[in-house]
Amino acid sequence: MKTVAVVGTQWGDEGKGKIVDLLAADADIVVRFQGGNNAAHTLVVGGEKFILRLVPAGALHEGKVCVIGNGTVVDPIALIEELDKLHGHGCLTSDGTFKLAAGAHMVMPYHRAIDRAREARLGGRAIGTTGFGIGPAYEDKMARCGLRFADLADFKSFSEKLARNLAEKNLYLKAVLKAKPVSVEGLTEQMKTVRRRLTPYLCDTAAYLDEAIAKGRRVLFEGAHGTMLDIDHGTYPFVTSSSCLASAVFAGAGLAPGTLEAVLGISKAYTTRVGGGPFPTEIKGRLGDRLRTEGGEFGSATGRPRRIGWFDAVLTRQAARLNGVWGLAVTKLDILTGIDPLKICVAYEIKGRRCDRVPPGDLVTHKIKPIYEELPGWREDTSQARALGDLPANARRYLRRLSELSGVEIAMVGVGAAREATIVLNNPFLN
Ligand code: IMP
Ligand code: MG
Repeated sequence: MKTVAVVGTQWGDEGKGKIVDLLAADADIVVRFQGGNNAAHTLVVGGEKFILRLVPAGALHEGKVCVIGNGTVVDPIALIEELDKLHGHGCLTSDGTFKLAAGAHMVMPYHRAIDRAREARLGGRAIGTTGFGIGPAYEDKMARCGLRFADLADFKSFSEKLARNLAEKNLYLKAVLKAKPVSVEGLTEQMKTVRRRLTPYLCDTAAYLDEAIAKGRRVLFEGAHGTMLDIDHGTYPFVTSSSCLASAVFAGAGLAPGTLEAVLGISKAYTTRVGGGPFPTEIKGRLGDRLRTEGGEFGSATGRPRRIGWFDAVLTRQAARLNGVWGLAVTKLDILTGIDPLKICVAYEIKGRRCDRVPPGDLVTHKIKPIYEELPGWREDTSQARALGDLPANARRYLRRLSELSGVEIAMVGVGAAREATIVLNNPFLN
């Protein structure tokens, strides 16, 4: 298969970055198609840790082309910083290895200021956003007052638009949100640097990708966040402001439906989420703390501690259906070593009734009791396993059950942070 998307089946942080980095070895082009620097992918390569927020995780492989598609929202200053860091490591230094959609929208400092001030005002009812201005930037895109990279070409008209936007945003910031306004002069100056630094990368990425696919290039689409954070199908309003499903590839990269040959769903062997909102299988107390510490479950973008829970098969079934998942990559299996018994949520109980499927909206409004199945754990170290046969029998049994309950075959299993610490059963590019 030549066009593959990787999507999260939970609330993000499933370990997509590691899987994308691994698959990128067999791809020619890696593409981001939604979200912004609210995403953060932690990769461990050659013992060194890298955090990528905007640039696709293909960046660490020489000679791959990295593309940021039109469906993303891009903080230009954050992008410049990320590119500088990557260049410092000798990544993406050849001409033409990085392309930015001229049609992508920019996240501006006033978006960040609005995001943070709104969250602060909400107090206990806050969404728990990353504070990077993602929601306000998508709002402006839909309100048709957003600024796109293409607008930088005519800087005079760009500055006028920026000044108009800022006048309105500053009124809102001061009068409604009681927050500090953003200076128009400072921002216009900053945008001159953005224009100089990023213009060389601008391109019609949709046409570029269409041509590349026609030529038989292998393209990997890197989803950000997760199915339950999807604006339509997630646990609204505790979601992000973009569509995180595989179908977002078509709008967000500008490709025709049918372009995608396989969707790899990524799921942790347990569940986590950051921010507010429902979490039926949440584990509080000592066991949750232990998994958080052993799994390093702190946000790569914000450092916030992640909430921890048991594997929820109701959610992965839903994600498999919504994304048309071809195979499941189960990550962080090694973190469950030593926990006995292990629980898997197989269905929910709502008002005394068993439900195998729940509209995500109802997750927010109903009191939900998870129905668990218990499986025996294992004590053996799994981090050196490179084939299913290297895993303890109970770990294999646990994986089998996750696969049965999710209705998807397992394609990969992660047993450690490093690129090599992966059992690859089925690589979609080699299929
Ligand atoms: P926003 O995307 O910053 O607006 O945040 C909205 C919700 O999505 C919050 O609960 C965030 O914690 C969550 N979120 C956004 N991006 C990610 C991600 O990459 N991983 C996990 N949670 C995320
Ligand atoms: Mg993340």
